[in-house]
Amino acid sequence: MKHNKLKIFLIITLILIILTLITVSVIFVIKKYSNPTTNEPIDITNYTKTEEIMKENNAYQEKYEQEYASIDYTDIENFPTIINNLLNKNYTAEEINSILKNYSSLIDVLLTMKHVDILKLAKLTNYDETKLNRYLDYYEKNDYDIATAVTYVNIGLDLEGYSEYITYNAEEAKDITILVNKYHKLPDDYEPDDLVSLSYNENYKLRKEAAEAFEKLTSAGVLENVIFYPFSPYRSFKTQEVIYNRYVKEDGQKNADTYSARPGFSEHQLGLAVDVRSSSLTDNLTEEQYNWMLNNSYKYGFIIRYPKGKQHITQYIEEPWHIRYLGIELATKVHDSGLTYDEYYDLYMKNC
Ligand code: DAL
Ligand code: ZN
Repeated sequence: MKHNKLKIFLIITLILIILTLITVSVIFVIKKYSNPTTNEPIDITNYTKTEEIMKENNAYQEKYEQEYASIDYTDIENFPTIINNLLNKNYTAEEINSILKNYSSLIDVLLTMKHVDILKLAKLTNYDETKLNRYLDYYEKNDYDIATAVTYVNIGLDLEGYSEYITYNAEEAKDITILVNKYHKLPDDYEPDDLVSLSYNENYKLRKEAAEAFEKLTSAGVLENVIFYPFSPYRSFKTQEVIYNRYVKEDGQKNADTYSARPGFSEHQLGLAVDVRSSSLTDNLTEEQYNWMLNNSYKYGFIIRYPKGKQHITQYIEEPWHIRYLGIELATKVHDSGLTYDEYYDLYMKNC
């Protein structure tokens, strides 16, 4: 009997030990595989440095939670305030990282102006670091996107025409593709050495290559019943001076500057530009003739240099009569781009 009691006691003890072991194991397994973050306090080491700094400075705003997580901390004064101000100006985390990395000296300026597409700015091929302040100033004052603002500033449009300009030397002036405008001047005594007469009038001259192309253009027009004549091709510096001064006298300098180049600044001095008139000899091209010119002149190497609606870029009113020789390949590219030569030159020629 006594033996039986002992047996029962041992069996119960064994069962209790087994139950205890099972319970301990179950608790261990549950602990191991349950999500530790759900019940435990948030581990501070999961925060980025930026998030930490924002919190420490009581600058953390829930609405920018995602942005803070992606912004690289930079050791600059007033970091939390700057970050929040940039975010308030709709800069993305990616843009802010670019600003912190590449444009930190501009932060104060950027905070006082409208949002700049900083990533686009950094990718522009015609971007010139030395003009950055001019770009931002021009962009702020005008309604153009940053890419347009950069091109326009490169052309010089943030400055008054003729206030600052580059003067070419004679060798540079010979380049068929040369850009001449209110920011690029020819030497006063520059005269091309390969001028030849046009068949229409021996006193009318262009550089040989341009003259030959002009004859072909004229013949192509005749074949399609589009008849036009040259009336002002090459003009020397002196001739341009006489013409310009006459316009100034008659019309005032402000007006004259919208349609006549100052001496040294005219494409006519290059021997690569020619003004054309319709068959009546006194009239401009008719609309039909002009459309033909627009659609065909590039095939012979000419572009319409001062097109309609581009006065804010070319700095001259529309001149449907003024065509400029660039050679067939380049004239075709400029025509296809839909850009003025000033823009095209800045975007695709300057660094060639
Ligand atoms: N009329 C053009 C701008 C010139 O004088 O060259
Ligand atoms: Zn002209």
